[in-house]
Amino acid sequence: MKIAIIGAGYVGLVSAAVFSKLGHKVCVVEKNKDRVANLKAGKAPFYEPNLPELLKEATKSGKLSVTDDYAQAIPNAEVIFICVGTPMLANGEPDLSYVFGAAKDIAHHIKNYCVVVDKSTVPVGTTEKVKKIIADATKLDFDVASCPEFLREGSAIENTLNPDRIVIGTDSKRARDILLEVHGKLPGERVTTDIRTAEIIKYASNAFLATKISFINEIANLCDEVGANVDDVAVGMGLDPRIGKAFLKAGIGYGGSCFPKDTKALHHMALSKDYNFKLLRAVIEVNGSQRRKFMGTIRNKLGDLNEKNIGVLGLAFKNNTDDVRESAALDIISWLTKEGAKVKGYDPEAMPNAKKALPALTTVNKAEDVAVDADAILILTEWSKFVDLNWAEMRRKVKNPVILDGRNLLNSVKMRKLGFKYYSVGRP
Ligand SMILES: NC(=O)c1ccc[n+]([C@@H]2O[C@H](COP(=O)([O-])OP(=O)(O)OC[C@H]3O[C@@H](n4cnc5c(N)ncnc54)[C@H](O)[C@@H]3O)[C@@H](O)[C@H]2O)c1
Repeated sequence: MKIAIIGAGYVGLVSAAVFSKLGHKVCVVEKNKDRVANLKAGKAPFYEPNLPELLKEATKSGKLSVTDDYAQAIPNAEVIFICVGTPMLANGEPDLSYVFGAAKDIAHHIKNYCVVVDKSTVPVGTTEKVKKIIADATKLDFDVASCPEFLREGSAIENTLNPDRIVIGTDSKRARDILLEVHGKLPGERVTTDIRTAEIIKYASNAFLATKISFINEIANLCDEVGANVDDVAVGMGLDPRIGKAFLKAGIGYGGSCFPKDTKALHHMALSKDYNFKLLRAVIEVNGSQRRKFMGTIRNKLGDLNEKNIGVLGLAFKNNTDDVRESAALDIISWLTKEGAKVKGYDPEAMPNAKKALPALTTVNKAEDVAVDADAILILTEWSKFVDLNWAEMRRKVKNPVILDGRNLLNSVKMRKLGFKYYSVGRP
């Protein structure tokens, strides 16, 4: 089928690469001209495992093209996926201007019947507004649908090639059949439903995962009080299939471009209907307080932070990505710097983005170098390669052998044997 994708971000590019691999002809429309030029030169705009290879393969086969011109992509498209950003506004609502802007541009360029699909995460009712924007601008026949995206940064290609489920929300049988065909070669359950339900499935899923994280973080805080080990609690809980092991890792909380904004958007959506979603409000509050609590532990173990040398391992909001949006690491670094600490940071992939967000941040090219003269080493992102660093050598380089592990990544027994004072979250 002929597919147009609006927006060459994580969702748009990964979808484009995968749909091309499935044999569809895909044209990506991206407003950022630099991004288009880089993509045409074969450069992916962000780090995502296996994406560059897939993009190269798709471009070479002639299945994938990229443009900044709607006129090139839209007139022939049978299905158009809107994959633009929906960033958070100051009041917690998502900014839908990119979605509506894309809808206007689509409306001015469609020439034949097509299905316009919202893949961006949007509040209930948005896809209906997209429909109205297009209907106001054209007399041509078209349908709209909501197909929320569930990929995880860091394993996005794998998730998209092997989805757990594909949600298709539409009130048109014709659109539903087309979307079933578009996704036909992919595994995973199909959930076909109405548009509003599809829209809320995405928010409900992310809010539930965020709830698991905040829940285990509260259990971790309690473990600290009573002298229990949250890692073992999580194993003991997670083996119950009704609970499941995933998202029961205690630490400094969730970040990224989705959970913080989606939980706040769902909470805002509830309030707009006079519904006080108390559980979700608590989830959001716990997540915010978790990184502040960790900051309290740092102060507690190090005393006055002024002029203290702090080595930070991990800047991305999670491992296997270079994304630093809403990263707990960046918040903690900002607070440390405000209190006069001298921070040296390292991340395998996210240093360029971290420097854009915090231009004064000092970074080092080798993870072990954060240890030089350090008063403490912090682990703020759960990159597995940090486990295998030469910790014995790092022990020799530090001024003060303190590790504060905000991701419960390292083995406490091993670190203490090496002579470190080791502190983590909810573990003795
Ligand atoms: N990143 C994720 O892990 C993820 C996962 C699931 C769902 N989502 C949702 O998918 C949506 C997109 O997220 P993302 O992370 O891919 O965003 P992103 O910010 O990485 O990319 C969005 C892209 O759209 C482009 N764009 C904006 N307006 C445009 C327009 N009118 N025409 C053409 N291009 C335009 C931007 O320049 C940018 O390159 C969001 O709603 C997000 O919540 C994201």
